[in-house]
Amino acid sequence: MFKSEPMSNTSALSATNAPYIEVNNLNLTIGGNQLLHDISVTSFTPGVTMVMGPNGAGKSLFLRCLHGLLIPTSGSIRLLNKPHEATTASQSMVFQKAVLLRRNVIKNLEFAAPNGTPPTEITELLAKVHLNGKELQPARLLSGGEQQRLALARSLLTKPRLLLLDEPTASLDPASVLIIERLISEATEQGVKCIFISHDLGQAKRLGADIIFLHQGRLAEHTDAETFFTSPQSREAKAYLNGEIVL
Ligand SMILES: Nc1ncnc2c1ncn2[C@@H]1O[C@H](COP(=O)(O)OP(=O)(O)OP(=O)(O)O)[C@@H](O)[C@H]1O
Ligand SMILES: [Mg+2]
Repeated sequence: MFKSEPMSNTSALSATNAPYIEVNNLNLTIGGNQLLHDISVTSFTPGVTMVMGPNGAGKSLFLRCLHGLLIPTSGSIRLLNKPHEATTASQSMVFQKAVLLRRNVIKNLEFAAPNGTPPTEITELLAKVHLNGKELQPARLLSGGEQQRLALARSLLTKPRLLLLDEPTASLDPASVLIIERLISEATEQGVKCIFISHDLGQAKRLGADIIFLHQGRLAEHTDAETFFTSPQSREAKAYLNGEIVL
């Protein structure tokens, strides 16, 4: 079911007939520098697709292309088996540094909530991210972990079918990480597809169904998570998992 090149692998993961992610020959050049090189990756895997790779590998740029924030120089993107323009409305991205409105916690959520969202839904979500009691606090005065939890709650309120997460738990304490991972697992159990950048190997093992491994702007490997962690195929992934520097 993995059709990516190079270093692809088949697995026993549950599959659907239509790919969730279909990227063909994606190239991105900014200011004369080619930053993403001919990335082709097809994933039929539901749940969480992890995007991994060393600093500067191109993970955030790749995710931004998937979210329509950067237009590739060439190549095509199809997500959830629909033309890209059709999916961007049903996808939501959480950035490594939460982008919040200069308003209080509850107003941040109300602003994002689709018309007709019952107030109880907002209250329940606030409790799930352990921010009940902080409704009236200015969002920008929340701690880093609290801001990330609010950003995820806000994304979930929009009921995305595809959730893109750029290191949403980097530098958070274990309790905040757990809260976010639980919410993501809950969302994927309800059918939300998730593409998640992380450097945290434990987290990738806990959540990942398949792994896209980037290195120097290129796809080094795309395999199911079990294969990736037990017998990575690419030299770059092997070195990364061994804690060697793979710049
Ligand atoms: N607008 C830009 N112009 C030129 N180079 C850029 C631009 N944005 C990113 N880059 C470069 O592209 C490369 C990939 O950046 P990217 O942010 O995607 O890395 P990353 O894999 O997300 O790394 P990290 O793990 O540190 O977040 C880096 O070398 C970065 O310096
Ligand atoms: Mg990044």
